[in-house]
Amino acid sequence: MNNKIDQIASEVKTCQRCALYKNAIQGVPGEGNPEARVFFIGEGPGQEEDKQGRPFVGQAGKFLEEMLGLIGWKREDVFIGNIVKHRPPGNRDPLPEEIDACWPYLDAQLEAIKPKLIVLLGRHAMYRFLPSDFRISKEHGKIFRRQGKFITPLYHPAAALYHGGLRQTLIQDFKKLPKMLAKIDSLATGG
Ligand code: URA
Repeated sequence: MNNKIDQIASEVKTCQRCALYKNAIQGVPGEGNPEARVFFIGEGPGQEEDKQGRPFVGQAGKFLEEMLGLIGWKREDVFIGNIVKHRPPGNRDPLPEEIDACWPYLDAQLEAIKPKLIVLLGRHAMYRFLPSDFRISKEHGKIFRRQGKFITPLYHPAAALYHGGLRQTLIQDFKKLPKMLAKIDSLATGG
């Protein structure tokens, strides 16, 4: 299984499926435990991620790690990836065709890892899995089942950094994750 994740990572590093690679330093495939029970999906690499080739290593990443710590999780326990693997110039929103071009990588990572729970960080990740009339302000912290997968949309950590009012909401949603996972386990065992 590890091999599959490594193989996807090496494909991402040389990917030219959309134009994003032209302005980026490198692809950021995602990283974490290949047997993770929880897979976090962000939007796309920012400046620091582009420099280091690793997801969520800038300010938003520090906040993400802080919230993982609050529930006793570490980033090495989970898997962290993004909807697009190259940094959009100036951190603009990824375009629909860029998201489509990059989708096979995320799809393959999800297939290899088979997480119990997928956490969608922000609206770009949410719209890949949930209907376009959904609003993150209404749906955050709820659990959905789509094509056999359990998913929950949360505010993006960067949004909470820019809009201080969302910080506590995001922290409260994070605190629900262990219970969600336990509930998914009990459904699987019929408990
Ligand atoms: N924001 C994201 O959505 N992804 C990262 O990897 C970093 C910041």
